[in-house]
Amino acid sequence: MKCKRCGERAEIQLRSHNAAFCRSCFVLYFQRQVERAIHKQRMFTPQDRILVAVSGGKDSLALWDVLLTLGYQTEGVYLALGIGDYSEQSQHKAEAFARQRGASLRVVELSEDAVAVPVAAQFTNRVPCAACGMMKRHFFDRAALEGGFSVLATGHNLDDEAARLLGNVLHWQTEYLARQTPVLEPSHPKFVRKVRPLYRLGELESAAYAFFRGIDYVIDECPNSVGATQLHYKDTLNRLEATMPGTKLNFVQEFLRSAQPAFAAANDSPPQTCAECGMPSFTPVCAFCRLLQEVKRKQERSVA
Ligand code: FES
Ligand code: ZN
Repeated sequence: MKCKRCGERAEIQLRSHNAAFCRSCFVLYFQRQVERAIHKQRMFTPQDRILVAVSGGKDSLALWDVLLTLGYQTEGVYLALGIGDYSEQSQHKAEAFARQRGASLRVVELSEDAVAVPVAAQFTNRVPCAACGMMKRHFFDRAALEGGFSVLATGHNLDDEAARLLGNVLHWQTEYLARQTPVLEPSHPKFVRKVRPLYRLGELESAAYAFFRGIDYVIDECPNSVGATQLHYKDTLNRLEATMPGTKLNFVQEFLRSAQPAFAAANDSPPQTCAECGMPSFTPVCAFCRLLQEVKRKQERSVA
């Protein structure tokens, strides 16, 4: 197999694009795809200050690497979730990446300002991932606001977007479908623009990019993700993709082109302000504050 660009021996084959690349042409291809997404979707410009949410995994570090390479003004933010070894390892990788590139990384300790993910899950009988996802959103929004950033970028890739879309469609979550876009404009004064520049690039592509660029990332999945619904969706989509290459990209792209605008038009109620923390919320008290209240109540009860 030969590289589509230079004719050298190819090291990676992309069936969905019917193309193969050598190492250096693939790196270039990946960076151009990100750049194209940024321009096409008007995600940000070189004047914006971008906060990149990093987890220590391949996607967020690959994204940060591309943005640094393209010369954007970025800072990273890492949330210490308190999930044992997994959290320690991923923090270590995120810090090492920032150090090597002379980039600045903010670390937010969840246990200082809230509760660690395992504690929240234990006291509220929630699946850890649900508590975690909600806390992540709260803290990333807050970090972006407090740091005066104009954009918050996350490393969600095509596989994440397709799985999220499948889940939202299976349950007809129309409000979520309305907000599933690679660029979410702020609908509240305390929100900043949220962007997902890797939304057209698959998990394998970001893993290959990270590998070819020598990025040291945490390979283990979060221990809480075992059995998570999202993984079942991914698995199903992978099987479809194996027999029909391009399915995921088509699913997401066509949704964004022909269905998402209709959902957005029908669900345009902006968030209110949380009575407790002052952050945007779709209920009088936001989900994050309600979670904290619940944990506190149950902790007090268990002490008594
Ligand atoms: Fe949040 Fe695993 S990363 S529960
Ligand atoms: Zn709140």
